[in-house]
Amino acid sequence: MIDTLKQLRETTLEQLQNIQDASALEALRVKILGKKGEITAVLKSLGSLDPDARKEVGAAANVIKDEISAEITAAKSRIERIAMNAALVNETMDITLPGKRRSQGNLHPITQVMTHIEDLFINLGFTIAEGPFIETVYRNFDALNTPDNHPTREEADTFFIDHHTVLRTHTSPVQVRVMETQQPPIRVIAPGTCARRDEIDMTHTPVFHQMEGLVIDKGITFADLRGMLEIICHYVFGKDAGIRLRPSYFPFTEPSAEVDVSCYVCKGKIKDNCGVCKGTGWVELWGCGMVHPNVLCMSGIDPDVYSGYAFGLGISRITAAYFGLPSIKPYFENDMQFLTQFKGVR
Ligand code: FA5
Repeated sequence: MIDTLKQLRETTLEQLQNIQDASALEALRVKILGKKGEITAVLKSLGSLDPDARKEVGAAANVIKDEISAEITAAKSRIERIAMNAALVNETMDITLPGKRRSQGNLHPITQVMTHIEDLFINLGFTIAEGPFIETVYRNFDALNTPDNHPTREEADTFFIDHHTVLRTHTSPVQVRVMETQQPPIRVIAPGTCARRDEIDMTHTPVFHQMEGLVIDKGITFADLRGMLEIICHYVFGKDAGIRLRPSYFPFTEPSAEVDVSCYVCKGKIKDNCGVCKGTGWVELWGCGMVHPNVLCMSGIDPDVYSGYAFGLGISRITAAYFGLPSIKPYFENDMQFLTQFKGVR
């Protein structure tokens, strides 16, 4: 048996020297060392030998097995090296070909305008407050002095999750959250997403963006609000843009107003064919007012000591206006060709 093993060793080593490709090498490895291989067969047969012969044949078989294993590993490296050298000689690379340019992304235009306006308020000493998109009916309506029979509380206007929870219809509930936890002086903005059951048209989408502003301190008057509205308007639309306040009604502010900005397309020239202002020269962009004393009381702030103003900027409409477009719709349609045009707010 020892002779057979020696013979096996010699023929295997000889074959290994001449082997040229990986599949032939693998076939030889299986033939000799595999589960049904020739050396494996010798090792399996040891049990039938007498103890002395078993010891001698077993030791010899293991030495030969280790030697052949090492030679197979060496042959494998040699074959891989030869293949690599051949590939390097045959393959060519044209380093003068132009590279593939990576496209550079940009923030969504609404995010760009939102961040731009946040910068203004941070510089004015405001802090940024946050509230959830899924809001309690209490904070979205009740704590904002909105009576049970107010039309915005209808299911036709608001997305109800259940009797106590809605998708917030505006960012004003963040006012409540801030006043519940902070005492004046308060100067915050609250940017965020809102939802209403509005039909889609040029100026409405069911999901849209607002930025709430809230200032509460001693001696705050409507004149402070008026001044702040002008600062916002000039910062966003430039010094030539004008604002107009139209008396309005919000349950949580008194007095209240809608803020119109001079039409950014016809520049307030009142052209009948202007698709944006419909010939009026003005575009409604947000609402505002002096915080209602009931709202202050409900949030634990004494209206005899403090007063304040609030506004809710319609960020989606401001974005369309900022980039001079008549409609907010395309900002929600995820058309990359459209969205990647907007590479930075000045
Ligand atoms: C409000 O939402 C008040 N919470 C604003 C406010 C805050 C008033 C604080 C007083 C004090 P209004 O419903 O008018 O108000 O919405 C404000 C702005 O949000 C609108 O001028 C408009 O720019 C924007 N907006 C409202 N609904 C939509 C919609 N469906 N799609 C896009 N923008 C909308």
